[in-house]
Parts: sequence; structure tokens; C-alpha cells
Amino acid sequence: MIRFEHVTKRYPDGTTAVDDLSLEVGAGELVTLVGPSGCGKTTTMKMVNRLIEPTEGRIFMDGEDISTVDPVQLRRRIGYVIQQVGLFPHKTILENTATVPHLLGWPRGKSRERAAELLDLVGLDPSVHGDRYPEQLSGGQRQRVGVARALAADPPVLLMDEPFGAVDPVVREHLQNEFLKLQAAVNKTVLFVTHDIEEAVRLGDRIAVYGQGTIEQFDAPAAVLGAPATPYVADFVGADRGLKRLSVTPIEEGDLEQPPVLHLDDQLRTAAAKLSKEGARWAVVLDGDDNLHGWISTEQTGSSGTVREHARRMEAWLPVGASLKQAFSTMLQHDAGWIAVIDREETGRFLGVLTPARLHEALRRSIDADAHAIPRTEVELETVAQIAAS
Ligand SMILES: Nc1ncnc2c1ncn2[C@@H]1O[C@H](COP(=O)(O)OP(=O)(O)O)[C@@H](O)[C@H]1O
Ligand SMILES: [Mg+2]
Repeated sequence: MIRFEHVTKRYPDGTTAVDDLSLEVGAGELVTLVGPSGCGKTTTMKMVNRLIEPTEGRIFMDGEDISTVDPVQLRRRIGYVIQQVGLFPHKTILENTATVPHLLGWPRGKSRERAAELLDLVGLDPSVHGDRYPEQLSGGQRQRVGVARALAADPPVLLMDEPFGAVDPVVREHLQNEFLKLQAAVNKTVLFVTHDIEEAVRLGDRIAVYGQGTIEQFDAPAAVLGAPATPYVADFVGADRGLKRLSVTPIEEGDLEQPPVLHLDDQLRTAAAKLSKEGARWAVVLDGDDNLHGWISTEQTGSSGTVREHARRMEAWLPVGASLKQAFSTMLQHDAGWIAVIDREETGRFLGVLTPARLHEALRRSIDADAHAIPRTEVELETVAQIAAS
């Protein structure tokens, strides 16, 4: 879809920002470009939408040499998201999102409809946020608008230059997760620039690790973490690359434990009986739709009444697919021995709980699965019982 052939960019002052770069990105692939500041990432990006012209070499999009395409036409096929979102302060969120369709001359109604659809897609309710102005939004929300705007005219290619660089780490991780879900739905060809190796491995189907204007390694995240190609890459990914795996390993349903489950309208007496029968000290509490409500411990089940009156709010929960790192940090943050896992933020259907032991198992499975190139569910872990028996 995008192909760089021996591309070099020398600035007039003699700086070689990109040096004989060759790179091929497949259709629907999300490639992260990662490296320290000044290594040529932004220059690489801007050559794709012809904000910068290469000194040597050629760039192809869909087989077409982009130097032969009118830059304005070219940019209609490319969504561009940058850190300083660049929203128009005097326009509403809906109008901002509809910018490109508007420029393309779509009818006003259709542009607004499309903008609303996209705001929805990036997790902003258009009926709530659509008529607000950029300054009325948080940094994270503004980044979402930036992504929605870039997608508005449905371009096949997205260029994202440190789009989440300016938001705090917790919000950033949310945005990354949302973006992964979004990408699964829209399936764009994405070049994503970051200086953060964790972000690169978390998002990229493949990651290109930059040295000075050149690519040191171009491979799947697990491969870069598992087998750095050069000492430079090893240094860049860091000595704690085992820990970094936590951020590229998602929670899967098979990782979860099934604790006793109670419903809001259950009688406490029945609840107590159920807990003692299962030998459990607590149960997860669900509402009538089996959505997560909270939890209750044996200390509260002694009295009379219903579970509803004594259930505690759930504080530590995550959707399936969130990273093990998020799970671990959520556990630490809430000083929780387990966290509830739901299907999706929007519905909240309860799937099970993740415990530290299960988290560790999931990590071991993922390392083993990568080493043998098999799915995680097929990994057999040796248990203490097996070791004792052998
Ligand atoms: N317009 C320019 N003129 C001269 N040098 C530039 C210009 N833009 C960037 N550079 C230099 O090119 C190198 C790569 O810059 P850039 O592509 O912005 O890196 P990155 O995005 O990885 O931080 C740096 O050394 C930077 O100082
Ligand atoms: Mg840059």
C-alpha cells in the first residue's frame, strides 16, 4: 500500500534526516515508527503526504509514484493526525469533524451526519459533545476529535504523528485501546509515529525501530522485544523488555476465573448459603442483565434483606482485550486482589475475574506461545502438582 524505495531527505542546511530508507507497509496494516527525538520520523511521515519532498528515492501509494500525484488530491486519500490537534477554536466539535467533507463539497446534512457517526465511533456522544467548542473538552477528548476528523472522508491511509504524546499516561492508554478497537473496525493503512517504545509495541502490527535516519529493525513487536536485531535496538527496547510484554499481552477470556455470582435481587440468606457452599468469601454481583454491578463479601451476607442493599461498588474492572499491564496497574491502584473483566465498556457484561496468579499464567502462556508460534490457549503450563507427580 505504501512503499518507500531508497528514500533520502537532506535539508538545505546539510542535515540528513532520512537516509536511504526502504519500507513497505501492507494495506490495512498498522506500522509504528519509533525512535528517539530527531531520528527522522516526522520527516518520513511528511514525505508521504508531500508536505516535504524527498531528495532522492521514490514513494509509492497503491503502486502509484506519489511525486506524480497532485498534492491536494493526494492528501484527500490521507488522514493526518498530529499532537497539537489543530482544531478550529471558533468552530464546534461537529463542525471541526466535518471539515474535510465540507471542503470536499459534501451536502451540509451529509457532512454533519458523517461527523456525528465518527464522533460516536471515537467514543464521544455527538448529542453531548457535538455542539461544544474545543476549549470545553479535555486533552484526551480533543485527540479523539482529531482522529474522528482525520477519518471523516474515509481515506484509506492514516498518518499519525505522536497523536497521544501530550496526554497523561492513563488517558493515553485509554486512547490507545480505543484506537486499536477503532482500527479493527475501519482497517486503515496506518503509519503511526511515537518515541515511546511501549506505545509502539502495543499498537503496531509491525514496528520500525529508527536509528539515525535509518531503520534498525522492522518486525512484529514480540520479535523486536524477543530478539533485538542490533545492540542499538536492544538498548532502545530496554532491559525490562520482559515487563514490556505485559503491555502487548491482552486479557483473554480463557485467563479468567469464575467466582460465585449473585444478582441484585437475591436474598442475603440465599447468598450466604451459596457462598458457604462454594467455600467463597465473596461473590460478584450482577444486575438483571448480567452486567457487572459490584461485589459482596460474607461479612455483609449475614443480615436480612437483598443483595442490592449491601453490595459494594466495583472499583477495579477492565474490558477483555485490555493489556495485562493495565490489569496489573489497576490491581495496584485499587489495592485489589482481583479485578472484574467485562466484555465491553458500553455493555458491561461480566465475563470473570483476573487474579495475580492468572495474570502471571497469561504472561507465561504468551511467551511460550510466541516461542512456539502457537495460540496462547494451546500452551500447556506445568503446574506444581505435575512437578510433584513427576
Ligand atoms: N526544516 C528542517 N531544516 C533542517 N533540519 C531539519 C528540519 N526539520 C527537521 N530537521 C532535522 O532533521 C532531523 C530529523 O527531524 P524529524 O524528522 O523532525 O525527527 P523526529 O520526528 O524523529 O523527531 C533532526 O535532526 C531535525 O533537527
Ligand atoms: Mg517528530
